[in-house]
Amino acid sequence: MTPPAAEAFASESLLVTKGLSVSFDGFKAVDNLSFSVDSGEIRALIGPNGAGKTTLLDLISGKTAPTTGSVMFKNREITHLREYEIVRSGVGRKFQTPSVYESLTVFENFEMAFPDNRSCWSAWRFRRSDEVVAKVEQIAELTYLKDRLRDRAEILSHGEKQWLEIGALLIQNPELLMLDEPVAGMSPHEREATGELLLEIAKNRAVLVVEHDMDFVKNVAHVVTVLHQGRVLAEGSMDEIQRNPKVIEVYLGH
Ligand SMILES: Nc1ncnc2c1ncn2[C@@H]1O[C@H](COP(=O)(O)OP(=O)(O)O)[C@@H](O)[C@H]1O
Ligand SMILES: [Mg+2]
Repeated sequence: MTPPAAEAFASESLLVTKGLSVSFDGFKAVDNLSFSVDSGEIRALIGPNGAGKTTLLDLISGKTAPTTGSVMFKNREITHLREYEIVRSGVGRKFQTPSVYESLTVFENFEMAFPDNRSCWSAWRFRRSDEVVAKVEQIAELTYLKDRLRDRAEILSHGEKQWLEIGALLIQNPELLMLDEPVAGMSPHEREATGELLLEIAKNRAVLVVEHDMDFVKNVAHVVTVLHQGRVLAEGSMDEIQRNPKVIEVYLGH
């Protein structure tokens, strides 16, 4: 049973930031930012360059420590945990540039993503079980890489590398997946496929995606948060955001 006091503070939201700030040499990259993301939601984070979008992901993922404020995930404070602890608690994060093992095959890249596989070779051999193979095949199917499993990652297109990295994150089964500009540099066809992928992914988890491609955002986002100068400028549906004069002035009008 949950004690009443804890219940009173419990939030329905999966991720909650409160008064989050970070300064770099006196410059506030993220400024007293409070926002939340619900389970099963696809939230888009948009805003001009330098608005603090990547820095916000850095704060949530523990790459950067905030000057003030807190990050709650599943009603537990994760603000000062280490990056790997935050990953273990269920937050997956993808950086803007793809980071895959170029000389390994797609299959091996996925295999490396299983918890413990990176650190222990013997465990890796032991774990190459039917279960691992089945999971890799399932993820490869989802990320459009089923016919690429035996190819080395280095020969994949930029878009396929992005999917490979997303798939590797999915193997760790995060409850929140954070993606920084995943469709930048992708072909129109790859963008569309990535949108479908995110909609599929969000059936089991929340997605927080930074993106500049407004057609993409319109297709996938349930809610859009606009950042400007480290603060939330506006939040709402894409339609509301596109009609918002403040957003048009600082971002969409450019
Ligand atoms: N490690 C850092 N040291 C100093 N300044 C930084 C650092 N990281 C980000 N910034 C600054 O913080 C601001 C926000 O950057 P960023 O979060 O990358 O913006 P966005 O992703 O929205 O384009 C920028 O002015 C950037 O130069
Ligand atoms: Mg950025």
